[in-house]
This record gives sequence, structure tokens and C-alpha cells, in this order.
Amino acid sequence: MTAKPIIIDCDPGQDDAIMLLLAAAAPAELDILGITAVAGNVPLALTERNARLMCELAGRTDIPIFAGCSRPMVRDLITAEEVHGRTGIDGYDIHEPAIPLQEKHAVDFLVDCLMSSEDQAVTLVPTGPLTNVAMAIVKEPRIVPKINEIVLMGGAFREGGNSTPSAEFNILVDPHAAHVVFACGRPIVAMGLDVTHKALTTKQRLAAIGEIDTRVGRAAHAMLEFYDRHDIEKYGTDGGPLHDPCTIAYLLEPGLFKTKHVHVGIEINSEQTMGETTVDYWGVTKHAPNTHWVHDIDAEGFYRLLTERLARL
Ligand code: BDR
Ligand code: CA
Repeated sequence: MTAKPIIIDCDPGQDDAIMLLLAAAAPAELDILGITAVAGNVPLALTERNARLMCELAGRTDIPIFAGCSRPMVRDLITAEEVHGRTGIDGYDIHEPAIPLQEKHAVDFLVDCLMSSEDQAVTLVPTGPLTNVAMAIVKEPRIVPKINEIVLMGGAFREGGNSTPSAEFNILVDPHAAHVVFACGRPIVAMGLDVTHKALTTKQRLAAIGEIDTRVGRAAHAMLEFYDRHDIEKYGTDGGPLHDPCTIAYLLEPGLFKTKHVHVGIEINSEQTMGETTVDYWGVTKHAPNTHWVHDIDAEGFYRLLTERLARL
């Protein structure tokens, strides 16, 4: 089996951090061509550093890391320190990572890397606001046919929003970028809150990660212990939702998820519902489907996969 070429675009964030560790632990299945950071959970200077810290922790010094856009396309940046802490990965022992930041801008890396690839060769995995990906598409539309599919974390339908009553954080931060990406014409797999809110870090699942007696195991456990307190309080659930790792889990074991092929639009005009993903679940608009909307997960299987992979690092 040849490893699938992917580019990860992220805004770490503890759940992005766990996503990076999971991806780093799958070299036989995933060929990570690069990691691009975007402003989102915390400002860009922190998200790019956190991406480097996680690759260093995972021992993956071979993966180039690029900093991208420091603000959304149109709107002002919204960050989420109340969830992730001041550093974005509170719970982790922060230091300056040895892995250098690449000089090239993330948008230029996306354009150059995709332009030098065959058609439908590269899978994009965005787990933050979609600014970098949209900017690359706007800068060089010829990259679009090079994309195999886009497996992203973002959006909400049945579950409602987590940042406004109707909008999920990643889409709300840069709805205009999301509009560009969802309309790009390549297949999209969207992990929205409908599914990620079923991937809860219960006490038992967290304890299993805590039993991994390695640096990675201890770091993952410490970050998740910090991270889940916010959503436990907010939703009254047994654990916090581990959003972003669902993307990589889908690439490794798609059978863990259930999807429906639907049209998804992005609200960019109404202040009240800005960033809402309008998921045409019953096909009432007759718009051609553009998204595999993920609506269910085998959560036990997901945590089995995650724990087993983290233990390999
Ligand atoms: C998304 O927002 C961020 O806080 C998380 O990292 C995740 O990507 C969930 O709404
Ligand atoms: Ca994220």
C-alpha cells in the first residue's frame, strides 16, 4: 500500500495537536507533504509554533511546516483562548522547538506543491479556519484539479453552533474562505459538530491514553485534561469532543464513520447567522451535492485507533 499524500492545514489547539500526533503516527498510510498553520484558536505566531512542537514531540522532524495567513479574508480574527488556554495547547510544557519554520508562505507552499502534483493527487486536511486553502485557490485556481479531496473539520447542522447559535468556530472565523472552499468543485468530507460531539473524551478513554507510558502519552493526556474541562462545563457531557482527529481517523479507517452526500452552503450575508453551514440533508434545494456530510461515528473504534496509534510514537 502506498501512503496517501496529504497536506494538513491547522490552528493548534489541543485537538489539532492530537490530530497532528495521530497523523504523525501513520507513516505507512499518510505521506505528510507539509503542515500549514493558520490563525484561529490562537494567533498565527502560536499556531505555527504549536505545530512545530507537536512534530518535534512525535519525532517527525522530516515534515516541513509553513506559516500562513494571520487573519481571515474579510472579517476580524476571532480566537478561542477560553477553550484552549493562552498558548493554544495549555497542558503542554511549552518551549521553543528545534524544528525551524520554513521561509515560504503557507499559501505559496500550497500553490507550488499542488501545481507540481498530478491531477487528483493530494488530499487536503484543514482543521482550522479555511483562510490558507481559500487564498491558495484564489491565487492559483489551477490547483483545484490537483486536489483529490478535502477532508475538513468544520460546520454544524443538527447539533447547532458552538460559537453562535448556528455557526461552528472554524467556519465562523472565516466564512468567506469557507464559501470559496465549499464551492471549489472538489469532493469535500466535512466533520461537523454533528459527528465530533459524539467523539467524547470520557474518563475511561482519557485514562487509557494516560496509561501510555511515553512522552507522547503523557503530553496527550495533559493537554486533553486541560482541554476537556471547558466543554464538560458547557455541555454537561462526560468528556470533551475531540473534533480535529476525526479527519485523520477518517483517512485511516473510513468505516468508523457514516456520511450522507449533500449540498452544503455557507452563510456569508446575515450577521445573525454568519458562518452557518446550510446542510441540505433532504435534497430540497436540488443543488448538486458537494459534500460528504459526516453524521455518525463508532466512538469506541475511534478511541481504540487513536490510543493504539499514540502508543506507537
Ligand atoms: C473547532 O474549533 C477549534 O476550537 C477546534 O480546534 C476545532 O477545529 C471546533 O469547533
Ligand atoms: Ca482546529
